[in-house]
Amino acid sequence: MRLFYILPLIMAQLSYATKYVMYLTGQHNVVPSPALVSHITHVELAFMPPSLFNQEDPSEFPLFTDVETVRSQFAPGTKVMVAIGGWGDTEGFSRAAASEGGRDLFARNVGAMVEVTGADGLMVRVGVDIDWEYPGGNGEDYKQISNSEKAWEIEAYPLLLSSIRSALGPSKLMSAAVPGLRRDMLAFTNTTIPLIDSSLDFFNVMTYDLMNRRDNVTKHHTGLTLSSDATDAYLSNGIPAEKANLGFAFYVKWFRTAPNSGCDVHPIGCKTALLEDPLTGGDLGRAGQFAWCDAIPDELQESFGKAMKWGRYDAGGGGTFFWDREEGLFWSWEAEFGIGKKMEEILEQRGLGGVFAWGLGEDGNEWRHLRALNMAYEEYEMRKGTTKDEL
Ligand SMILES: *[C@@H]1O[C@H](CO)[C@@H](O)[C@H](O)[C@H]1NC(C)=O
Ligand SMILES: *[C@@H]1O[C@H](CO)[C@@H](O)[C@H](O)[C@H]1NC(C)=O
Repeated sequence: MRLFYILPLIMAQLSYATKYVMYLTGQHNVVPSPALVSHITHVELAFMPPSLFNQEDPSEFPLFTDVETVRSQFAPGTKVMVAIGGWGDTEGFSRAAASEGGRDLFARNVGAMVEVTGADGLMVRVGVDIDWEYPGGNGEDYKQISNSEKAWEIEAYPLLLSSIRSALGPSKLMSAAVPGLRRDMLAFTNTTIPLIDSSLDFFNVMTYDLMNRRDNVTKHHTGLTLSSDATDAYLSNGIPAEKANLGFAFYVKWFRTAPNSGCDVHPIGCKTALLEDPLTGGDLGRAGQFAWCDAIPDELQESFGKAMKWGRYDAGGGGTFFWDREEGLFWSWEAEFGIGKKMEEILEQRGLGGVFAWGLGEDGNEWRHLRALNMAYEEYEMRKGTTKDEL
């Protein structure tokens, strides 16, 4: 074997540590002090639009920050990756995937973006994260373009990833964010996953938003049971455990419940109001979310205050929640306590490769959830170290 092929394998062997991946978003581009980000191994900058890579000769690849600035804010050696896509931005992926020519053009452009060199002549970008939400359908536009019209994407998605991998070469990092609900895993079957897996270094399993406006009963949006189920769906369909990362959410979600919802008796699994327009798929304004760093909307302040004061952990489904009886609002979020528990019961028990969170700046300005994730990560690494020594 030529060194060209062996080197990445050696490097993969050396990077034994648990991955700690963090999205840094354009909406909340805030990085705390170095001490708080020292465990982070990969930063994924979200997002570049996929349509950028459909162009014949894109002259530049604009982003909300530049890679050198990001590098200076994290520990030396932290990998910086550019995330492409995001919720509602799928058209460019579809266009790329539709033909061999489209896939090649897209892949070539992604390769060029990743190869962009900095002013000092050093290669500054080390990888890419593909956030197609979702190949095969159930995206933002699912009422406008039906899933059956997107069924071809199920076979085209692995082909697109494979073209991108060819353009990147074996040493660049490539990951994908993948849906957390079985109903959205249209393109992730035991037939397609081995093909998808052969192109990727790791998968970010989006174990959050597991309750959203398409639901009609209350659930924990990033809870333990639903997160386990998502993880197991991928593992049983062929993702190697060490390539799966478990997702954490640094934001809170709220949902309006129905009159006579039954939430007073059983707050988990009780009826919501109609949250989405059944014809257009449009948002009816009866559900929403905001990051920990965001200003709390006026009309939600009182209810949010109650949630923070009275919210409790449901050991059954493994999530923190509050049902506000006066307002008829259900709140769901990842509390500090749940973070360590999810790490132990999902990541540790299944030997997953790492964790990730959406997103770093979202946890400002108190960084409570980041600290909890740091601590859970440290404790896990310590337990792992102990086990290794005992062996
Ligand atoms: C693949 O999944 C299908 C559908 O869920 C199932 O019927 C089949 O047995 C699975 N095949 C393997 C090899 O696990
Ligand atoms: C609630 O949603 C489920 C699917 O998530 C669906 O099967 C059921 O028909 C819905 N019920 C109502 C009353 O809309």
